[in-house]
Amino acid sequence: MPDRTWPDHLDDVAQAVLARDEERLAALGDLVRIPSVSADGHDPAQVRRSADLTARLLRGAGLEDVRLLEVDGAHPYVYGEWRRAVELGPGDRRVASTTSLANPGDDAVTVLLYAHHDVQPVGTPDRWHSPPFEPTVRDGRLYGRGTADDKAGILVHVAAVRAWLDARGGLPVDVKVVIEGEEEIGSPHLGEFLRRHADTLRADVIVLTDATNWKVGVPALTYSLRGLAEVYVTVRALEQPIHSGMWGGPIPDALTGLLKALATLTDERGRPAVAGLFDDVRPVTDDERKRLDALDADPVQLRTEARVLPGVEWTGDPERSVLERIWMQPTVTVIGMDVPSLREASNTLLAEASAKVSIRLAPGQSPGRAAALVEQHLHDNVPFNLHVETHPGHGGQPWVTDPRGPAFEAGIAALRSAFGTEPALIGCGGSIPFVVPFSQAFGGAPCLLTGIEDPSTNAHGEDESLHLGDFSRACLAETVLLEELAARAGAIRAGEEGGPVGDGAPSGN
Ligand code: BES
Ligand code: MN
Repeated sequence: MPDRTWPDHLDDVAQAVLARDEERLAALGDLVRIPSVSADGHDPAQVRRSADLTARLLRGAGLEDVRLLEVDGAHPYVYGEWRRAVELGPGDRRVASTTSLANPGDDAVTVLLYAHHDVQPVGTPDRWHSPPFEPTVRDGRLYGRGTADDKAGILVHVAAVRAWLDARGGLPVDVKVVIEGEEEIGSPHLGEFLRRHADTLRADVIVLTDATNWKVGVPALTYSLRGLAEVYVTVRALEQPIHSGMWGGPIPDALTGLLKALATLTDERGRPAVAGLFDDVRPVTDDERKRLDALDADPVQLRTEARVLPGVEWTGDPERSVLERIWMQPTVTVIGMDVPSLREASNTLLAEASAKVSIRLAPGQSPGRAAALVEQHLHDNVPFNLHVETHPGHGGQPWVTDPRGPAFEAGIAALRSAFGTEPALIGCGGSIPFVVPFSQAFGGAPCLLTGIEDPSTNAHGEDESLHLGDFSRACLAETVLLEELAARAGAIRAGEEGGPVGDGAPSGN
């Protein structure tokens, strides 16, 4: 049982959260057992199974109108809502009596709760200490693919809704829940989904449980995300592979040519060397600089968290701190290649070789522009007049906001009261494509990015895990958050946010 850090008048709701800790862990286990890998080449029926189970869990939370939201060709999104904070009316809100939410005359705040039910592939199965889809508790952590990224995020929303309904029979705000099924592949159908379902999802505030806490026991609100762009490149030299001894010398091969081109994407310190790529990077503001400086980031600790081998050097701009490099600078990384494996390597000059290049974008940058620059760079740098084909993959826009105003105040207050300590305000090097389009579609709605990850989670890697104590705290935090948002209903509905909300670009993308 965690120390009681929440306010007295919410004790009944907090106890209702804790009463279901075990049930919630079992439900999370059921979700983790479904290998809902959204990537190509994996069974899409599994993603649909996780959508179906997610729908059952949302119904079990007491959400209404629960259904799958479909877009042709997309893994299903799951939707549910509870909107009777309005129907009950200001006078007869059953929940109003013991809380500070009553703002007679104000319509209730509508909060959109987001998470995703798809997961990344497992990587190398042998590197897992327990099978990735068999949830296993060790030392206070739950191990399994998708435990923290992001199936626990779904259950945080379930917990908050269930606790209010259990304890009070109603919620202090109107709630809509959307659980995406294709986040881990770059949300390729997001544009179409937005066109079709933006009205259903419309809200005053978006709360996402898909980010990270600062440390175990120290929560965080994330105010920036990097964007993502992808480029596929294929280099061709020959109609088919030929004997390397008989022809090597005067005849070039595709793989060496591709490697030469890829090597020019970064300089000797690993910084992107693509002409023009930095032109739209928005400089770090004074406020952001202060927030960066306020964090106790120990480089030695960061190296350990990143699992870097001894002696391996830092890359990037040495003038900038490690966190600034991760959160506020672009990167260009080769993340995969289609080439013969060593087992298949024969003494041939290869006819064709392909690679995937992943570009993380700083606030201000446009995915389309970055991909085009990298494509151009590859065309310009492939040697020997080899044939080159490139095409962009999926992307996501970077996001940055000023973490002030009533919604952020509510978020900070809720995290403080659930964790008993001051939350950190952090940026993040990862991407969540949902954020910018939906925030913009809802007139710059503030986005509160909270997390159930921590520095040991190893999301996307082997032995992904969730800290069970922080999971419980995150559930408490969201429960309290709904009331903190309700208490600021007037200001939130009036849109009194602290600053620009968007992708940091001067005029959109
Ligand atoms: N949950 C992560 C992103 C994240 C991690 C945000 C930690 C904040 C803190 C998310 O599921 C993710 O990995 N997204 C992908 C998106 C991409 C495919 C567009 C990513 O960043 O690689
Ligand atoms: Mn995630």
